[in-house]
Amino acid sequence: MEASQEISSLPSPQVSQLFDQWASTDRAQKMALGHQPLMEALLAEIAEPSSGAVLLDMGCGTGAFLAQAKASGFEHTCGIDAAPKMIEVAQHNAPGADVKVGNFTDLPWPTSSFDNVTTMEALYYCLEPLAALQEVRRVLKPGGRFDLIIDYYQDSTGTASWPEGLGFEITDLSAIQWVELLAEADFERISNKRILRPENKGVPDNWKPSVWFPTQNSYLAYLKDGALWLTGYLPPSTSGTS
Ligand SMILES: C[S@@+](CC[C@H](N)C(=O)[O-])C[C@H]1O[C@@H](n2cnc3c(N)ncnc32)[C@H](O)[C@@H]1O
Repeated sequence: MEASQEISSLPSPQVSQLFDQWASTDRAQKMALGHQPLMEALLAEIAEPSSGAVLLDMGCGTGAFLAQAKASGFEHTCGIDAAPKMIEVAQHNAPGADVKVGNFTDLPWPTSSFDNVTTMEALYYCLEPLAALQEVRRVLKPGGRFDLIIDYYQDSTGTASWPEGLGFEITDLSAIQWVELLAEADFERISNKRILRPENKGVPDNWKPSVWFPTQNSYLAYLKDGALWLTGYLPPSTSGTS
């Protein structure tokens, strides 16, 4: 990142308006249900945390993942989202979680707060992904783990029309470019893999074209490519780092 680059402390109004709308309808609930297989796969890897473990979910949406993380043993759960109405839904779904309206590039928690930071289907909405990753690094404890899951990435041909469907720019990086960005933000032991939705075996009978999947081929490509799942860690000791 160039030193002169300005980091916005407020999320893009287009993003917060879109997800405020979704939070006001059953669209948000449908979204969370669609992400459920990904949430389960992630929890299967990070569950059974150590006593007192604290987790932050970035772009927490309805709070579905926060509720499940709490049930899986995380003692404290926190969430951030650009959409105030999503935060209201999350407060209802994940009572006791510390959820705040805000931007990924300006996380309102102190340095070294979290054992785990997760973000599902959210980081590509941020046009300053390196700044967001640097914030993740700041708020993770030494040895902490970061998991990033996204359906929209350059190698996924099925989701290529999503910026057109959304009507605004989103971050368009390949798997390799995301890995490089995590490395630039000083994460270690970076890995990436694909995750398929196990229940999705093909095009359902009631399938209809949409802005997200204009053709059956695009939907099939989305199922075939799967979501991109990146993991990175902080070194056990961060002495001397920014
Ligand atoms: C597609 S939803 C995913 C919600 C949830 N993670 C899930 O899987 O159901 C993306 C969420 O990220 C939030 N978001 C996007 N960009 C953001 C940013 N820069 N700062 C904070 N939240 C953001 C949106 O408001 C939205 O609720």
